[in-house]
Amino acid sequence: MSKILVTGGAGFIGSHTIVELLNEGHEVVVVDNLCNSSLESLSRVEKITGKKVTFYKADIRDKKALEDVLAKHHCNACIHFAGLKAVGESVEKPWEYYENNISGTLILLDVLRNNGCKNIIFSSSATVYGNPAQIPITEECPKGECTNPYGWTKSMLEQVMMDIQHADPEWNIVLLRYFNPIGAHPSGMIGEDPNGIPNNLMPYITQVAIGKRAELGVFGNDYDTPDGTGVRDFIHVVDLARGHVSALQAIERKCGLAVYNLGTGHGYSVLDVVKAFIRVNGVDIPYSIKPRRAGDIATCYSDPSKAERELGWKARYGLDEMCRDSWNWQKNNPNGFAK
Ligand code: NAD
Ligand code: WQD
Repeated sequence: MSKILVTGGAGFIGSHTIVELLNEGHEVVVVDNLCNSSLESLSRVEKITGKKVTFYKADIRDKKALEDVLAKHHCNACIHFAGLKAVGESVEKPWEYYENNISGTLILLDVLRNNGCKNIIFSSSATVYGNPAQIPITEECPKGECTNPYGWTKSMLEQVMMDIQHADPEWNIVLLRYFNPIGAHPSGMIGEDPNGIPNNLMPYITQVAIGKRAELGVFGNDYDTPDGTGVRDFIHVVDLARGHVSALQAIERKCGLAVYNLGTGHGYSVLDVVKAFIRVNGVDIPYSIKPRRAGDIATCYSDPSKAERELGWKARYGLDEMCRDSWNWQKNNPNGFAK
């Protein structure tokens, strides 16, 4: 058992990961400024697990606040989720994205090392591959040109952490490149709760299903894919969360620097997801074809075999469960975490 500092732990992936950490007997200390989340998510986590979450409302750019947290809690490792993540917004507000994500992470890394905690798991993204040189994407696939500032923050922060680990091999750093997380905890008590109009496919679908949006716009049906719509590697958020528990075990084994894709290895098109959602949940999803969305690529899916080989981790849930659990969350919580 160990004590884990979780930045951004009130958010979508963080809250699901905390459930898995607590179930495995770890203790967690969460730092989140709640800029894109609600504290209600953590009280739901406590209900699901029957365990306590220590929470600090603080910004990772606030060095003094982080120092105070780490002085009070000796943490063995940090799982670093905190960051801004809206691709389109990052194009409009690049300074804010670079400042929040990069300055925040630099401050966090400094405070961690000053407190002798040189173990970190970082939420990276398949976006660092740009338009991938090969499909399925292995970790050896070269990083590419990102199409937006959000993606660059991930790519740059990976480089920062690689350089830090190279200079000081006492660091154990795991870069987890997530593919497309969807789904929700099967309890229906926690899930994704986007502000305003969702940017991502699944929250948009569930909002159409609940009647908040009239129809789904499918961004392009003329890609070079089996049905012309974009193909992605959707992964159940609970599988993704379990990947972090496995990555902690790699840190305990002193992995140095390690990079893993977290995906299922299956590519599903936008229309595959829409059809599965309709079939599994028995609800209608009206949609119409719209122009391509700027910056989108045709196909992106992982080769996740390195994580299976080295971490013993493999996704267990399929697309049907992802659709079932996304809808279960949305229909039980039509307004997300808002009361
Ligand atoms: P989220 O927005 O739900 O969670 C991020 C959390 O970080 C939020 O609770 C937010 O309040 C907090 N936060 C942001 N800036 C902060 C700061 N300066 N100080 C303290 N807290 C701060 O997002 P998520 O989907 O759970 O994503 C978690 C991480 O995974 C992010 O780093 C994201 O970029 C990355 N990621 C997400 C996806 C995805 O599709 N959801 C894919 C790849 C990578
Ligand atoms: C999936 C597919 C869309 C919405 C993004 C980020 C990426 C990562 C994961 C953080 C695409 C189509 C979508 C809609 C649609 N995040 N779509 N109508 O773009 O693969 O990845 O989230 O790191 O960096 O870019 O995910 O869910 O937005 O889109 O047709 O209303 O669904 O065009 O083909 P994406 P997405």
